[in-house]
Amino acid sequence: MLRWMSATSLALSFAILPVASLAGDKAAAPAQAVSDAEADRRAARLVDAMTLEEQLQLLRPVAATSYQFAPGANSFPEGMRTPPPAGAISSAGYVPPIARLKWPAVQESDGPIGVANMKGWIRGIDDQATNFPSSIAWAASFDPALARRVGAVIGEEAHAKGFNVMLAGGVNLSRDPRGGRNFEYAGEDPLLAGRIAGATVAGIQSAKVVSTLKHYALNDQESGRGVLDARISEAGARESDLLAFEIALATGKPGSVMCSYNRVNGDHACESDWLLNKVLKKDWGFRGWVMSDWGGVHDMQKAVAAGLDQQSPQGKDLFAGLADAVKSGTVPRARIRDMAFRIVRSMIAAGAIDNPARAGRPIDRDAHLAVAQAQAEAGAVLLKNEGALPLEGVRRIVVIGGFADIGVLVGGGGSMVNPYGGIVNEENRIGMASLGKWAFVPSSPLAALKALRPDLEIAFDDGTDPARAAAAAGKADVAIVFALKQETENFDSADLSLPRGQDALIAAVAAANPRTAVVLETGNPVAMPWLGSVNAVLQAWYPGQRGGEAIAAILSGKVSPSGRLPISFPQSVAQLPRAKLDGYDPKATLFSPPPAPFAVDYHEGSDVGYRWFERTRAEPLFPFGFGLSYTKFEHKDLRVTGGKQLSVSFTVTNVGKREGTDVPQLYVAPPGRTHRLAGWERVTLKPGESRRVTVKADPWILSSYQDGGWRRAAGTYDVRVATSAKLDGLQASASLAAGGR
Ligand code: BGC
Repeated sequence: MLRWMSATSLALSFAILPVASLAGDKAAAPAQAVSDAEADRRAARLVDAMTLEEQLQLLRPVAATSYQFAPGANSFPEGMRTPPPAGAISSAGYVPPIARLKWPAVQESDGPIGVANMKGWIRGIDDQATNFPSSIAWAASFDPALARRVGAVIGEEAHAKGFNVMLAGGVNLSRDPRGGRNFEYAGEDPLLAGRIAGATVAGIQSAKVVSTLKHYALNDQESGRGVLDARISEAGARESDLLAFEIALATGKPGSVMCSYNRVNGDHACESDWLLNKVLKKDWGFRGWVMSDWGGVHDMQKAVAAGLDQQSPQGKDLFAGLADAVKSGTVPRARIRDMAFRIVRSMIAAGAIDNPARAGRPIDRDAHLAVAQAQAEAGAVLLKNEGALPLEGVRRIVVIGGFADIGVLVGGGGSMVNPYGGIVNEENRIGMASLGKWAFVPSSPLAALKALRPDLEIAFDDGTDPARAAAAAGKADVAIVFALKQETENFDSADLSLPRGQDALIAAVAAANPRTAVVLETGNPVAMPWLGSVNAVLQAWYPGQRGGEAIAAILSGKVSPSGRLPISFPQSVAQLPRAKLDGYDPKATLFSPPPAPFAVDYHEGSDVGYRWFERTRAEPLFPFGFGLSYTKFEHKDLRVTGGKQLSVSFTVTNVGKREGTDVPQLYVAPPGRTHRLAGWERVTLKPGESRRVTVKADPWILSSYQDGGWRRAAGTYDVRVATSAKLDGLQASASLAAGGR
């Protein structure tokens, strides 16, 4: 049986907490349609009018997939072949309505990067939606306000398709650059990831759709995700992965949190009293409901006692035993009420009851696609440029490889969104991606560049023959190679290399033309053995439905790149806390049985990503926070204020010849600790323009978890205003008083 696998991932691989005083976060305003007090009152009335059976029904959504109708679906396991119940929009999960109480059906759709829908296998609704850039690109924009706009569009589309719960808001820290789902998350830093995910959640909920923060917690790799035990110290967890969740909860106020597949310090996340009852519900005051990941519950009694409120579809229906457990007194009746109350309350608070979602509402595609393009442009990171970009003073261009004539790559798994126009596979077939074939959204960078720059002579070579591609490059003023790597849920990468001989292709092209630019469509950092011989590198991630247009706008100079890396690019896996990825099996397929349980020792604690590089004094290939633009900026006149808070001000000047956006970053090191990102600002300036900028350190980031609580140690803090975690910039120190957060 394939019970450990996600319904969606299987399909796709075939084919209130205290509202935070988070300083400096413009996107922090939580989206809640109905006040806490009113939501409490109304939820109590409704839940108390429900029978026990009605309350129990809320706790166990049923699978709402229609795999059995899909071509080639015969190989789907038994449990996944039941037709979706009448009334269900075929998607991730469904709870029938309670008509006598005017309680609506709960319709869940996957996210987080658009209304995901199993590549067109849904029947009965318009199943295409805006395919946004992957979440890692949102993080790369360092722009929570933009992430919130993206979230609002996702929410609006979900609402217009009849969904009232989005499984969207991925905030697992990218602890390892081989992680197969990093593209669905928001990078390696808790403040950045938390603000971006929180803003997305707030955006989604602003459309009266509940949003779900996931996967709680420490589901930081895919290999063996159902059996691995993430071992980490309490302080290490609280200051890293849990902090990202805590910030996202405080800023976004999601109605729901999804617990993850893995174990944490011994217990399955969905059965961990420490994670659910203690940290999430008690310490953080979370008042929404905890849903399990699909098939993530193993022991009903333990899970319910630990704080799990809802068993999601897939796997054995363990919650079927709840009625008997109540009768026999092993699960208190009051606990069932609490579980149901949390669901009802969150739906009311988000406005999902007063503004019911209804399938078939019109969607303003063009407006939504414009937001997708804005996010793709803001998230692309220029890693190197010795003058090949932007394309100016040139006539003949050759575009090479990467299926740039077809579209841009997407990440695989449950998050995949069927874009307007449909998924295209590498054989240029519209429809489902098939096993082992790369999938694209139909947004061709080649076509977009031709449209934007009719003044250029643009040739295309598919890159399958490096010698032929090199010959074509030799005749061009600039060669642009597209290099791709597809990441997907369920699998990690063996290493950081580009597949399919693309390194050799780039090397051959660069040898033939020194003005070679490389565009990377990857969900993770990759190694660049050819870096020294190419002129320019643009990291475009999976840029979504308008990715081709965004890339063309940047290449041509219409848009100056402004993205910054949300994840460190190592030189090699030897620099990582674990050179070997535990549990990685190169032969694993979707049908392999799970490996024997194993532990992953997160001995680095909260020194994740750039903090690990600092601790080990290692030099990455490109540091966290790094990114170039088409102009240059200077920072000067740093002033620092300390005491109980920390704030810095400095002057940013655009000393180049074009308008551009700078992202100065504030890093702070508490005494004896590594530097942490404590704030940043996006500053757009015209050539010659200067601005005085103030960045307040987020007070949570100044504290460390110690002896069971958060403390800001008294002492001297090292303060940097820098353009990356390399900390090459202005330096000062600040004296801070002791305190909490
Ligand atoms: C994934 C979740 C997803 C769920 C429903 C799981 O396998 O881990 O992210 O929301 O399936 O499709």
